[in-house]
Amino acid sequence: MNNTFLKACRGEKTDYTPIWMMRQAGRYLPQYQKVRGNVTFLELCKNPDLCVEVTLQPIDLLNMDAAILFSDILIPMEAMGAPLEFHEGKGPIFPETVRSKADLDKLIVPDPLEKTGFVMETIKLLRKELKVPLIGFAGAPFTCATYLIEGGSSKVFWETKKMMFTNPELFHELMEKITETTSKYLLAQAEAGAQALQLFDSWAGILAPCDFRKFALPYATRIVKDLQKTGLPFIYFANNGATLLELSVSTGADVIGLDWRINIGDAIKRVGKKAVQGNIDPFALLLPKSELRQRIKRLLDDAKDAHGHIFNLGHGIHQFTPPEQAKYAVECVHELSGR
Ligand code: CP3
Repeated sequence: MNNTFLKACRGEKTDYTPIWMMRQAGRYLPQYQKVRGNVTFLELCKNPDLCVEVTLQPIDLLNMDAAILFSDILIPMEAMGAPLEFHEGKGPIFPETVRSKADLDKLIVPDPLEKTGFVMETIKLLRKELKVPLIGFAGAPFTCATYLIEGGSSKVFWETKKMMFTNPELFHELMEKITETTSKYLLAQAEAGAQALQLFDSWAGILAPCDFRKFALPYATRIVKDLQKTGLPFIYFANNGATLLELSVSTGADVIGLDWRINIGDAIKRVGKKAVQGNIDPFALLLPKSELRQRIKRLLDDAKDAHGHIFNLGHGIHQFTPPEQAKYAVECVHELSGR
């Protein structure tokens, strides 16, 4: 069993720096494309055998130090009763947006086993196969709320901010419901065998710090607290979150995920005795090999004073990344950090 990742999460000394990549199971791998060629994305998410297959692909091919459950942050939102569609090239769509009290009242707090049992089944199956730790995950309530309110991805988040500023009671009520759903969902993942948990707050960075503190942070914090009883390391990743670092630390998470827009050494000085995860620009994987190696060396040097460092990208791996470049990055991290 390779526990390097879990040790780094806890700030313990490791023989080398562990690495995994956000969205490591996905479209940049021809092996994933092959599986995905026969099913829709949602069918894939709901088929435990196929989820196991694609979760394992990058572990075997690229030698990652942790696996991340193959699923999507919007799966529990669908379980709340919001119909979900994925359109090729457009991403997720919620045709029935949540913008009024009547819309909100239609949503339930689902029993995770009853509505998303396929996720727990995937976790159980994966634990039988894996020799590296398995990360379970969910979307942070703010990020999930933006998808429900906007009806999909957005650039300006007009409807979300409109609700926050003109109907804060409704916004908070929606956040309460998502938060309760998410805590239960992550608890079920822990009980099924997940060995670490990550909350993805992909859109936290669109908020002013004062609004993040009021509208997003209390809910992420409550989830971290609710999951503390599991004893599992908890990772909080706020994308575009360099201005929110101290607030991110205040969630109580053990590991702070960093996007690439901040120097990791500067971040480490600001997060105190927390482990950090990150943070090379996903597009840096396109660099010529010698430059990629140099950049990884520099990042490892900058992170030398971390209380635990898990190497990762600053956001998900891009779908047009050549897999051999990702593989080379893993080799560089392992070699240059001491193995
Ligand atoms: O990291 C992993 O390997 C595990 C799998 C995983 C997926 N989505 C698979 C996926 C994880 C952890 C996610 C999280 C997720 N999903 C986030 C948070 C992380 C982030 O990227 O900010 C968000 C915002 C979503 C919502 C979502 N799902 C979007 C916006 C899209 C479409 C656009 C895109 O970048 O692909 C998806 C689809 C999705 N989720 C795919 C995969 C592999 C591609 C679907 C396909 O096969 O066509």
